[in-house]
Amino acid sequence: MKFKVPRGTQDILPSESWKWQKLERMIHEVCDLYRYEEIRTPMFEQTELFQRTVGDTTDIVTKEMYTFKDRGDRSMTLRPEGTAPVVRSFVENKMFGWPDQPVKLYYIEPMFRYERQQAGRYRQFVQFGTEAIGSADPAIDAEVIALALDVYKRAGLKDIKLVLNSLGDQVSRAAHRDALVEHFKPSISEFCADCQSRLEKNPLRILDCKVDREHPLMKTAPSLTDYLNDESRAYFDKLQQLLTAAGISFELDPNLVRGLDYYNHTAFEIMSAAEGFGAITTLCGGGRYNGLAEEIGGPSAPGIGFGMSIERLLLALEAESAELENDDALDIYVVSLGEAAKDRAFEVLQTLRAAGIRADMDYMDRKMKAQMKSADRLRAKWVAVIGEEEVERNIVQLKNMAEGTQQSVSADELVKNILAAGN
Ligand code: HAM
Repeated sequence: MKFKVPRGTQDILPSESWKWQKLERMIHEVCDLYRYEEIRTPMFEQTELFQRTVGDTTDIVTKEMYTFKDRGDRSMTLRPEGTAPVVRSFVENKMFGWPDQPVKLYYIEPMFRYERQQAGRYRQFVQFGTEAIGSADPAIDAEVIALALDVYKRAGLKDIKLVLNSLGDQVSRAAHRDALVEHFKPSISEFCADCQSRLEKNPLRILDCKVDREHPLMKTAPSLTDYLNDESRAYFDKLQQLLTAAGISFELDPNLVRGLDYYNHTAFEIMSAAEGFGAITTLCGGGRYNGLAEEIGGPSAPGIGFGMSIERLLLALEAESAELENDDALDIYVVSLGEAAKDRAFEVLQTLRAAGIRADMDYMDRKMKAQMKSADRLRAKWVAVIGEEEVERNIVQLKNMAEGTQQSVSADELVKNILAAGN
């Protein structure tokens, strides 16, 4: 029997994993800069958590969740997104009582959605997300957006744009909802079955439909922007003012509704404008979710956050031909010739590593030439050669690969020599 990696998932091999490590390190740094702290939640949660928050009528909940019964007959779901679990943890761990509010959290974790496989859409993907919970100040919205953009900038992306909308508060949304029902109702039979059932349950979702995207009524649908009450409009204006002051440019898109139900007020996406990026151009999506903590039994704790997949970030870098710099060259490769030399090489290797020098050697009893080739491939800055004579005299022949120079160095002085040369 032959086994394959499950559809929509991928093995990340060493030729790629260094990029992941690099991006993850950079993300940790940026989050630290903004004082966001890491949270790790379980990979699965009670199914009801996602039904109540992401929403019963959304694609994610109706079509895409990996749901299973555990042996205690409880319905569990592999996490399709990170916000609901983080807010669950916020409530459960009474983070609302922590002295520093808002609580600013981030995660880099795999998410699972049973989606149709295509470029940029996976069934398991890794999402970097942030959640700032406890404040309803537009400045925190601006901060979250700035953080996401900083990550892309530091990764080397240039061709990106920020798209912004306001979904308003509950009152604005209710008025808009009624207008939508009125707009679509007379022609609802022309829409897909999903949209038909969305009409009464959640008409906003119709605007997000992938099937009926081109229907003329989509373009003429009442815009949420026109239904924003004064409070919602003031909030949105303030956010725009803060972004502008920070030199962050954006486009407004009244049709940006996002695919999850918990949003209100700010909604945003960061898209790749790079040619050749493919059909899916959204790199990052986020927004405000006042009311979510209450929805799952907590106190009032307004929040905002975003999620971005590392996979799409890598695709965007590729589309822009922006190369990450691979700085994992080996410091030193130890070439050994003969049994005694190999034993010595291993000793030397461990001394080097103990001193923080990245070192490797041959374990295949290969000839000198093959070992030198390995050293080249691994871009070793130094090569130490140990033969019979070197063992006897307790020395190594140390080659500086960039300069092409060679010198005999006492084995005990090797570490000192390399450190003195600054690796
Ligand atoms: P979302 O728009 O469902 O929002 O996903 C956010 C991001 O996750 C997308 O922009 C994309 O980068 C990535 N993503 C989603 N699905 C896939 C997939 N199948 N393959 C690869 N990447 C994917 C959320 O998940 C919200 N929890 C974001 C959020 C956090 N809102 C507030 N806080």
